[in-house]
Amino acid sequence: MAFIDDIKAKAKADKKTIVLPESMDKRTFEAAEKILKEDIANLIIIGTPEEIAKYGEGFDITGATIVDPFNDPNKQKYLDKFIELRGVETMAAAAKAKAEKKGLSAEETEAAVEAAKKKGITAEKAQQMMESDYMYYACLMCKCGDADGAVSGACHSTGNTIRPALQLLKTKKGISSVSGFFLMEVPNCELGENGLFIFADCAVNTDFTSPLLAEIAKVSADSFEQFVGKPAKVAMLSYSTMGSAKHDDVTKVSEAVKIAHEKYPELEVDGELQLDAALVSTVGELKAPGSKVAGHANTLVFPSLEAGNIGYKLVQRLAKAEAYGPVLQGLSMPVNDLSRGCYADDIVGTVALTAVQAQAQA
Ligand code: ACO
Repeated sequence: MAFIDDIKAKAKADKKTIVLPESMDKRTFEAAEKILKEDIANLIIIGTPEEIAKYGEGFDITGATIVDPFNDPNKQKYLDKFIELRGVETMAAAAKAKAEKKGLSAEETEAAVEAAKKKGITAEKAQQMMESDYMYYACLMCKCGDADGAVSGACHSTGNTIRPALQLLKTKKGISSVSGFFLMEVPNCELGENGLFIFADCAVNTDFTSPLLAEIAKVSADSFEQFVGKPAKVAMLSYSTMGSAKHDDVTKVSEAVKIAHEKYPELEVDGELQLDAALVSTVGELKAPGSKVAGHANTLVFPSLEAGNIGYKLVQRLAKAEAYGPVLQGLSMPVNDLSRGCYADDIVGTVALTAVQAQAQA
């Protein structure tokens, strides 16, 4: 069974409610029709009657719940939640607590509180954001327990898709940063888990430190095991293998491996490894003898966003691999981003992946 068919079967086995905020795009309705027909998830589509009529014309979305953001009996509940989470008072109090925890001076604390107040929203602003950017509405529905996850990004940038989730849903307990992975399915490939790999972080973080890389290793291993159902073997990638080159960039990765070993002793992780040493057993044995991961890695952690983003696209284009994602990991509830060039079938697949993530978080 192809990877995505397996994910759809898992999603069907315990149906979750996924919200689609992009009613201003025909592909949403094309995908919704397929999702409902295949019984993959319950759907909520956010949109005005005009948007639904214009972009949904010709598609059978019977069974989907339509929520009009200008005329929704639950709207006040979402507005109240928005203010509770991002109001001026909340933001100021959170900044004060953070500054005190860091031991900042009174002056520094005051400056942090003033900056936080500027980020805080008023009721008027909250309403305007919910009505003009349905992703905020979708995340509030998730936060209030009315949906299990959200999928967007067919006609919004990655930043605009994930910012509301970062602001409103925040990270899971114990996780400092959200990251984004691709599940790569490489045809006719015996490497990894018979051609299945996770590549991370390919989508979110722009500033990689050793502790962040270690955390990405752990959450990516969890994602691999959740989606592929096999033990993860995590390679921390570099242009050096086990000290063959000396540079701060190499040290950053080898430090990350040390942190990962200390913090997550059960994790099969090794590095720093070059890509060939990570994947090919003869090269792994030669360059990293004794490593349980070298030559057998199925989860690849890249040392920068450039490397991760370029790496997955190279494999997708040159090896004709399927690239499912970016799937966000580390959020308190699942929200996933689409490519603006996506097809309706990609939305169907992403909804199934999101529903499976929601099952694990239930
Ligand atoms: N994990 C958890 N929280 C985060 C993260 C993260 N990785 N990044 C930001 N946040 C939080 C911030 O702490 C902040 O919280 P607060 O407002 O409560 O204090 C909130 O999210 C907003 O953060 P900002 O830094 O103000 O938001 P910004 O506008 O800079 O956006 C974003 C953050 C969207 C993740 C940005 O870093 C980004 O654009 N990253 C790259 C995305 C990208 O372009 N990827 C490549 C394309 S995707 C592809 O090709 C598949």
